[in-house]
Amino acid sequence: MGLGYTEKVMEHFKSPHNMGEIKNPDGVGKVGNPVCGDVMKIYIKVRRYKGKEVIGDIKFQTYGCVSAIATTSMMTKLAKGKDLDAALKISRNDVANALGGLPPIKMHCSHLATEALEAAIKDYRKTGKKKAK
Ligand code: FES
Repeated sequence: MGLGYTEKVMEHFKSPHNMGEIKNPDGVGKVGNPVCGDVMKIYIKVRRYKGKEVIGDIKFQTYGCVSAIATTSMMTKLAKGKDLDAALKISRNDVANALGGLPPIKMHCSHLATEALEAAIKDYRKTGKKKAK
């Protein structure tokens, strides 16, 4: 690859977690990366757990690079099961650190993961509030 990806990055790129689509999602977030034109779409299912709204399921689809796929795969792993406020606090650095770091020129790719998650949670809060059981 020549870019210095960590093993963890390559592992998530080769076998991404939570890739795909959720039928009838509670929230959808779609963002584009202005730097490269890549696109990310996140679907979430929200459920109630101990009085909180948590991410019961999360999936993603992307037209993106190695870093975009690996960071989103890791982000979905970190976000699944978290309540929505905690999920919103997942930062790009949290995701990059969990992957053992990203080459500096690929940090912009990790925007897609956290921004799309934020957009999906906002979408849920705007449109799906009453759906979580
Ligand atoms: Fe586009 Fe990485 S080059 S998201």
